Amino acid sequence: MSDKAHIIIGGGIIGLSVGWQLLRAGIPVEIYEESSSPRSGAGWVAAGMLAPNAEAGYEEEALFKLCNNSLSLYDKFLEELREDVKKSEVPKIDRCGSMIVAITSDDIQTLKRQYEFRKSLGDISMVMLSGSEAREREPLLSPKVKQALFLPNDAQINNRKLLEALHEAFLNSGGTIHEHSHIHEIVTRNGVAESIVTKGTVHFASGITISAGALIGKISGIESIGIRPVKGQMIGLKTDTSVKLQHLIRSPRVYIAQKDDGRMLVGASVEEQGTSRTITAGPIMELLHYAWEVVPLVYELEIAELQSGLRPASRDHCPVIGESDVAKLFYATGHYRNGILLAPLTAYALRDEIVYGKKRDDLSMFAPQRFLKKSIPEAV
Ligand code: GLY
Repeated sequence: MSDKAHIIIGGGIIGLSVGWQLLRAGIPVEIYEESSSPRSGAGWVAAGMLAPNAEAGYEEEALFKLCNNSLSLYDKFLEELREDVKKSEVPKIDRCGSMIVAITSDDIQTLKRQYEFRKSLGDISMVMLSGSEAREREPLLSPKVKQALFLPNDAQINNRKLLEALHEAFLNSGGTIHEHSHIHEIVTRNGVAESIVTKGTVHFASGITISAGALIGKISGIESIGIRPVKGQMIGLKTDTSVKLQHLIRSPRVYIAQKDDGRMLVGASVEEQGTSRTITAGPIMELLHYAWEVVPLVYELEIAELQSGLRPASRDHCPVIGESDVAKLFYATGHYRNGILLAPLTAYALRDEIVYGKKRDDLSMFAPQRFLKKSIPEAV
């Protein structure tokens, strides 16, 4: 085996997960991160929802299955993480379930359509509740809630603890992270990815994985897969221990996720604003209004943080995972709204493809080839 490292571009949730799993399989790994790891990427600002049943989108059946497959790998992933950390707290999965609530008559129709759609997907556990049944399970819900769809198999995790633990596990397993490193170019020779170039320095690699999230477009030669940033603004509200939401709460306009440290996260806007991460009044005002409409107590809570992040979105809003037309050049990006949820599956899949040449059947629709029209120019 070559002693050149496998190079990963991007030290967020996906880069760290893939890198750590490669290290566990005996492959040396170096991460190059544009900013700093693990706090600068979309994963830090995420709500940590492991909610494939609530997130299931029309025409996204394969993605729904993929997300569920990843959720089923989470326990093993966390178990392995516990083996590789000393200082960090590995978060537990909170199997709280989701509740999608309806307030207006439009919401009720939307909820009915969502129920029928989920029924067509097959084996989803769900219960349609009246407003009062919903409030029995979730006393903080507003009296305005008229109906709710309860999805007991959804869960959540503290994504920040997860990122800190992955960061430590990656380093403890012998990985190297080069922070504030801009990758100018990926160099290929005879159809094989050979090296990356940072500030005029060439770094040779045994293979390259691109998990650069929304900033992928800045690397020369890879624009063709069309990843774009989709901004999400999020509010963190402070609660004391007497306040506890029992579920992930969603309406058609907002979601609320209370984490194990008490933070009540209200999110998130979906904005096409390029690479801007500016916090703006309009989306924050709307999110707070929509959250208050569902959980009136929100009005009283202290705003502890306002955050924004850039989700990496592909043209079909599905992830891009696997080897490209250039040998030894792998993609693990485009996770859009599902980066935290899809981290375990992406990490195991890339490990199996890179180390053992094995591909997962459930990833055939998510290969980079669906977006690759032209190859990266050859080195001369
Ligand atoms: N997964 C939630 C979001 O992207 O806002």
